[in-house]
Amino acid sequence: MILLVKAIYLVTAAVLITALVVGGVAYYLLRPTPSAEANVVEIYHWWTSGGEAKAINALVDVFKAKYPDVAVIQSPVAGGAGYVFQAVIKPLVLAGEAPDAFQMHAGYEGKPYYDGGYLDSITSLWNDQKWANVIPKVVQDMVKFGNEYYAVPVNIHRVNVVWYNKAVLTNKGIDPNTLTTWDAFFAACDKLKTAGVASPIALGDSGAWAATHVLEQIIASEGIDFYQSWVNGKVTSATDAKLLDALTKFKTYLSYVNTDHSALTWDQAIAKVIKGDAAFSVMGDWANGEFYVANKVYGTDYGTFPVPGTEGMYGLVIDCFQHPKGVKHPENSLNWLKVVGSKAGQDAFNPIKGSISARTDADTTKYGAYQKAAIADFKAATHMFPSVTHGSGAPPTFAAKLNDIMSNFVTNKDVNAAAAALTQATKDASADYTTVWSL
Ligand code: BGC
Repeated sequence: MILLVKAIYLVTAAVLITALVVGGVAYYLLRPTPSAEANVVEIYHWWTSGGEAKAINALVDVFKAKYPDVAVIQSPVAGGAGYVFQAVIKPLVLAGEAPDAFQMHAGYEGKPYYDGGYLDSITSLWNDQKWANVIPKVVQDMVKFGNEYYAVPVNIHRVNVVWYNKAVLTNKGIDPNTLTTWDAFFAACDKLKTAGVASPIALGDSGAWAATHVLEQIIASEGIDFYQSWVNGKVTSATDAKLLDALTKFKTYLSYVNTDHSALTWDQAIAKVIKGDAAFSVMGDWANGEFYVANKVYGTDYGTFPVPGTEGMYGLVIDCFQHPKGVKHPENSLNWLKVVGSKAGQDAFNPIKGSISARTDADTTKYGAYQKAAIADFKAATHMFPSVTHGSGAPPTFAAKLNDIMSNFVTNKDVNAAAAALTQATKDASADYTTVWSL
């Protein structure tokens, strides 16, 4: 009897222990996986140059201070203007694998995601945060589809800027204030060449977009009406006089650039200006971030002026983040957006990035001399225009062809062929010009 009880006891104990072990193993195996459970926010962007990386880290630091329990996973994809990034992010979004938020330009760039139903409306977040009170209407309109908000702007960049090395110009007797026309600008380039500056203009167009960027500014210099027609898909004649003139000017521009331009990135071109190997470079004001990390002083070491013929115009590039549908960490994604749109976040990011805050209540004491001037120019601008090179102004179906057309042009300098290709691309995309810009 005792033996029987003992046996029953042992069997019961064994069953219990087995159950505990099996239960424990099952619990371990079936527990939520760390990646689903972990308190993280994953963001994708293309900010990898010296100034860009420092700026996004400053924004992440603001987030970390506010949400210390959340780890920020940055997935940067190198390649200026996102020319590599776009090819990486699109398949992820379309496969339902979007990160918690990703860098995106305001305007047309988000349209395919909106059309495909890949983005959540964040109108209620905009209302909670009262962003409409502090973000200019021109910017708000560029992050809306239908009547809803779909993105949060972190900045306003300016595209129509010439960067110059002050010592190079001073040494050769060139006054940058006089370079308000293309004739004056090219005459200055000639003077520099004669004085021994082999390549007065620095260009770094690996990925082609930096060449497209320059052509876009020359198109703007043909006048706001022409630019407006261009972004509204109305420049469809290959013999359009202004288009041919813009391409001809770009051809002249290319005759002054460094021979290794297609092997260099945009920031390597800016480094040439910083060093004094070149006098000028046309680039968006993310270039200011490179001068910033090189400890150069605006007004002393370097300066800027509007691209000739674009005085009073402000070419817009606006970086944003959004809330993709079905993200792994929806709450952290929303909190990331809150920081992106916040005064503290923007005033940490933009002074390094070179852009101005997308908010009118920025603490301007935190911004350097270049940006103080940009803030004044933004307020006084007679016309603002959306960049096509940087995703905002024209449909992606058109924009996607631009870099190839420009890369051919930079090689063959064939004005008529480029005009034909550009206008054909506009015609091919005619159904996609859904925004009517009034600039
Ligand atoms: C982005 C900037 C970025 C630049 C160069 C632009 O398209 O808007 O934020 O710094 O590309 O990478």
